Amino acid sequence: MKVLILPGDGIGPEIVAQAKKVLEVLKKDGLDLELQEAPLGGAAYDQYGSPYPEFTQNLARAADAILLGAVGGPQYDKLDRPLRPERGLLAIRKDLNLFANLRPAILYPELANASTLKPEVVSGLDILIVRELTGDIYFGQPRGIRTNEAGEREGFNTMLYAESEIRRIGHVAFQAAQKRGKKLCSVDKANVLETTEFWKEIMTDLAKEYPDVELSHMLVDNAAMQLVKAPKQFDVVVTGNIFGDILSDEASMLTGSIGMLPSASLDVNNKGLYEPSHGSAPDIAGKDVANPLATILSVAMMLRYTFNNEAAAQRVENAVKKVLADGLRTADIYEEGTTKVSCSAMGAAVVAAM
Ligand code: NAD
Ligand code: IPM
Ligand code: MN
Repeated sequence: MKVLILPGDGIGPEIVAQAKKVLEVLKKDGLDLELQEAPLGGAAYDQYGSPYPEFTQNLARAADAILLGAVGGPQYDKLDRPLRPERGLLAIRKDLNLFANLRPAILYPELANASTLKPEVVSGLDILIVRELTGDIYFGQPRGIRTNEAGEREGFNTMLYAESEIRRIGHVAFQAAQKRGKKLCSVDKANVLETTEFWKEIMTDLAKEYPDVELSHMLVDNAAMQLVKAPKQFDVVVTGNIFGDILSDEASMLTGSIGMLPSASLDVNNKGLYEPSHGSAPDIAGKDVANPLATILSVAMMLRYTFNNEAAAQRVENAVKKVLADGLRTADIYEEGTTKVSCSAMGAAVVAAM
């Protein structure tokens, strides 16, 4: 099983180094893993002049699974758009057809006080956000910045979903709901946007194939509010690319920190790219203080979804639970009475717990 590691930028290399330790333990204990490494994003631009160079593309296409840190940084924000790190990430998602982004927001009981919300609001939280990842306003054409007829500059993007794109993410979400609490909430802005009115129509049609799943619909502004008011009303949430981007960052704070939220981006065959939901955190990069748990938990998702190895996935998740129960905390989830540890010490503790 070929795993391609893409450390990326900012805290990417620091957090990925911890996840790599976990992969190495699994390998030592008999998992048939071949680890390779390549640059993506700003690191790839520095080395190859492109955020998703051919070198990385060839290895990514040949890999069974990919582990990514994060991309981006202020030093790249002035580059031409096609050269920016974020374009590298969008390009690899599109190139590998990774349309299904699963972002589970789970609150570990030990972190009930780390959330900015009251413990009773978030305790026991376990929701899954299914975000469509290769369509929507992220990819719709035309797009750009132009001068209009009146001589004024304007920026424009196109929000667009083909029926087949909605159906395939819908199937993923309904099937995920079948395996969980059998409740699916589709989030849209059907009161204003035709694209999402169409989304709602297709989701409603799909529901006929899943009579055991209770489908509901919610407008995205209300969903944002409900997520902080009463997040436990949700089981599985399915939504488009841009709403999913925003709602998943919001949901991450329910778990205590964005440093806790892993993600899987899957194609139709469950080949996947696994990455934390957060970014490259330039404000804390190079200080060995980032939380590596979202990245380590992304390895667990890789074991579960691409390698079908539930036992190994649980071994990693149980090790994370153990270090939290032992009171170890990186700065983002630290509270009085716990032990503050560095990024690398957290990684080492997870390995020891394994
Ligand atoms: P961010 O997620 O990088 O950071 C937001 C805040 O959360 C920062 O204060 C940061 O320190 C904190 N944070 C994030 N991850 C953390 C962790 N593991 N441990 C502790 N604290 C953590 O978002 P941003 O600041 O808006 O973006 C920074 C850069 O990252 C931008 O260039 C952006 O484009 C990029 N980005 C990349 C990805 C990705 O690669 N998937 C995702 C989001 C943003
Ligand atoms: C994410 C990130 C990316 C996105 C950016 C960096 C392109 O925010 O993975 O959530 O918007 O999808
Ligand atoms: Mn995001």
